Amino acid sequence: MNPAEVIRSKRDGQTLSRAQIDAFVHGLAAADGPGRWADSQAAAMAMAILLRGMSARETADLADAMTHSGTVLDWSAETGSGLHGPALDKHSTGGVGDKVSLMLAPMLAACGAVVPMISGRGLAHTGGTLDKLEALPGYRVNPPHTQLLQTLRTAGCAIVGASSDLAPADRRLYAIRDVTATVESVALITASILSKKRAAGLRALVMDVKVGSGAFAARLEDAQALAHSLVQVATQAGLPTVALVTDMNQVLGTTAGNALEVAEAIAFLTGRGTRDARLLDVTLALGAELLHLGGLQPSAAAARLALQQSLDSGSAAERFARMVAELGGPVDVLQAPGLAVAPVQRPVPAPRGGRVAAIDVRALGLAVVALGGGRLHPADVVDPRVGLSAVQALDAVLAAGEPLAVVHAASADAAAAAVAAVQAAFTLADGPAAAAAPVVLQRISAG
Ligand code: URA
Repeated sequence: MNPAEVIRSKRDGQTLSRAQIDAFVHGLAAADGPGRWADSQAAAMAMAILLRGMSARETADLADAMTHSGTVLDWSAETGSGLHGPALDKHSTGGVGDKVSLMLAPMLAACGAVVPMISGRGLAHTGGTLDKLEALPGYRVNPPHTQLLQTLRTAGCAIVGASSDLAPADRRLYAIRDVTATVESVALITASILSKKRAAGLRALVMDVKVGSGAFAARLEDAQALAHSLVQVATQAGLPTVALVTDMNQVLGTTAGNALEVAEAIAFLTGRGTRDARLLDVTLALGAELLHLGGLQPSAAAARLALQQSLDSGSAAERFARMVAELGGPVDVLQAPGLAVAPVQRPVPAPRGGRVAAIDVRALGLAVVALGGGRLHPADVVDPRVGLSAVQALDAVLAAGEPLAVVHAASADAAAAAVAAVQAAFTLADGPAAAAAPVVLQRISAG
């Protein structure tokens, strides 16, 4: 099939046939040769899809073709090798301070699930789970399959990157979209996420669709449209999925930055210090949906209790420690995580007194990136030490000079720039607090 003719169809607003979609996906994943589409053709197709949209049927076909562009894992076939429990996973559309995966994977494992959590790196202003885990010395995000299996067997969870044969069409298309302003398409995001999740052989999925100043979807209606698309396409393809739309108008927890977030996750798991209420709420809500959807608990309420029990008993912390040790990280991560510490730490004084009325969370994420905690170019090396801690929440009441956050930086100059960026990201105002917004805004299911 002539690629230019397929692109022309979508450019002119036609609905693509399954055969046309297959030709596109084959052209993405094919090795160099006559069947392979050039980057320019793939980019033109991505732009045509972004501008013209796709029907639910086309989106489902695209997701399905991309799922089967590489290996599709089947955990039930591994049962003989000691894996028990349904394979469950959650996926977030990305936020700032979103360290939920670090706690949720071991909590689910402690409740009987098998959690092969295929995670990604930071994108734009958002942090990536793999970058966070690499703050632990020795942690292998790309283990060989035997080590992955061994980790799942002993810990019940393994947070790792996608191997190169998992949804290779998405891998190539995603890299092209990233540099051609074609990320923000509901059809392309749906197909991208679900192709990787279906190829990972899951029994059930929960999606955390973030909305707010620190999310890719700033408007509620955009987040809802994406959540509906994900749930509809996944469910039709036989992957039971629930989406929670959750608030990202403030940092989740109190830290943003790789080592700092791992330290917060360890404190959360072990119960050392206070667990941030919003972080706990969203973690329990996502986990409860999954345990219920995967058939491990009779109701979401019962699942919530089981997850809380996994924290209180220390069993989730124990699973996390086993996972880290199996994947090459510190053998006693709960006591001695070996996280590097930034040489410069500076409190950010509030320029005036008042109540925190608004936070530009994207700007806080970009401040972490500018400190070296994320990438400006794909080849950049991330500095695990840098970021923000003790980040204030919405509605906190502060006196002038009280800290909005603490900057962790590699140098005094970098710290000074971050202090200014954090000050600019906070709006302090007089007057009474608004009613606190819940962290879980909406539940979207197929039913
Ligand atoms: N995450 C993905 O995996 N794909 C997208 O397209 C967007 C976010």
